[in-house]
Amino acid sequence: MAAIDETAVRARIGAFRTAEGAGIPAGMVDSVATREGLVQVALMVAKADAARQEPMRRALEADLAAMPGVRNATVMFTAPRAAAPQPQAQAQAQAQEPGTLLGQVGSIVAVASGKGGVGKSTVAVNLAVALARQGKRVGLLDADIYGPSLPRMLGTKGKPEMAGNKLVPIEAWGLKAISIGHVVEEETAMVWRGPMVLNALTQLMTQVAWPELDVMVLDLPPGTGDVQLTLAQRLKLAGAVIVSTPQDISLLDARRGISMFRQVRVPILGVVENMSFFCCPNCGTRTDIFGHGGAEAEAGRLGVPFLGAVPLLAPIRETSDAGTPIAASAPESEAGRAFAAVATAVAAGLDGAGPARGPRIVIE
Ligand SMILES: Nc1ncnc2c1ncn2[C@@H]1O[C@H](COP(=O)(O)OP(=O)(O)OP(=O)(O)O)[C@@H](O)[C@H]1O
Ligand SMILES: [Mg+2]
Repeated sequence: MAAIDETAVRARIGAFRTAEGAGIPAGMVDSVATREGLVQVALMVAKADAARQEPMRRALEADLAAMPGVRNATVMFTAPRAAAPQPQAQAQAQAQEPGTLLGQVGSIVAVASGKGGVGKSTVAVNLAVALARQGKRVGLLDADIYGPSLPRMLGTKGKPEMAGNKLVPIEAWGLKAISIGHVVEEETAMVWRGPMVLNALTQLMTQVAWPELDVMVLDLPPGTGDVQLTLAQRLKLAGAVIVSTPQDISLLDARRGISMFRQVRVPILGVVENMSFFCCPNCGTRTDIFGHGGAEAEAGRLGVPFLGAVPLLAPIRETSDAGTPIAASAPESEAGRAFAAVATAVAAGLDGAGPARGPRIVIE
């Protein structure tokens, strides 16, 4: 396969003409990124002009995809730099694009948290596995572009196959899964800037041959930034699962996550308390290290369902590190049962999920 680099892509963009014969001025090209045959281009287009320019965007995408050595190409619009949009404004601009991504998925569920390291990825993987064990067709998408953890947690480090110009999701533990970590080296993704991250995420949705699925679980990056907001707006999310540890500080962060989803009218399926209590592996005694129950009480105060508590157990971490998620490798263990219970609660929430609710006013 011929090597493809930024210079070649820029030259191709320079030579490109629309059906009407119009070219693309160099100043319009915000960024070009290439990696192992994947091409991502961001063009600066004013929001008001985006709909008119859409045929050009598609034609350029097809033209770049036809270059020898290109496995797939994505062209995205980004707001012009001079306008210096706030992340929120930019996300809102992108939200104007049709929300048709992942239309073949019954329910898209985002697993989120206000802060990092609370066990989002652990919950996302085991929730997905447990839902699949309950007979659902489940996909898992690692939306954490900067810190992808699915390849390690699923034990799938290989590159995905291609079918035509699309990537085929990796199959593991009854799931179809994909992560940026399956496509590029981790260090590559670490240096991407905002628009490229959104490009890469869009590629994981549009340029992956996702089959029909009952549920897609999204493992979101930590926090409540631009990526989270954009995804919440661009995808038709059936709901959000907020992961929290019992410590107060992280509950404050969980509130932030909840209020972000409420602002964009995504239903909150509920809160999972992770690392909730410690079960001594020797004597079986349960210790509430952090004061268990905080998340449940907080969920009650915020008026969102409580989806269950997952204990702090070494085998959860060990199986994650070994690429054998505990919900699959030991479903009858205490941890396996805890994740199955969370999956049951999430599935019930999805069945009962009505239309997206508007934001609520919470008096603090
Ligand atoms: N219930 C648990 N018992 C034991 N270890 C756990 C549990 N939940 C998560 N861990 C461990 O805690 C660490 C952080 O978990 P994880 O990577 O899932 O968090 P995260 O919220 O996705 O982090 P990030 O914000 O970096 O994406 C991992 O080493 C994981 O194996
Ligand atoms: Mg994570």
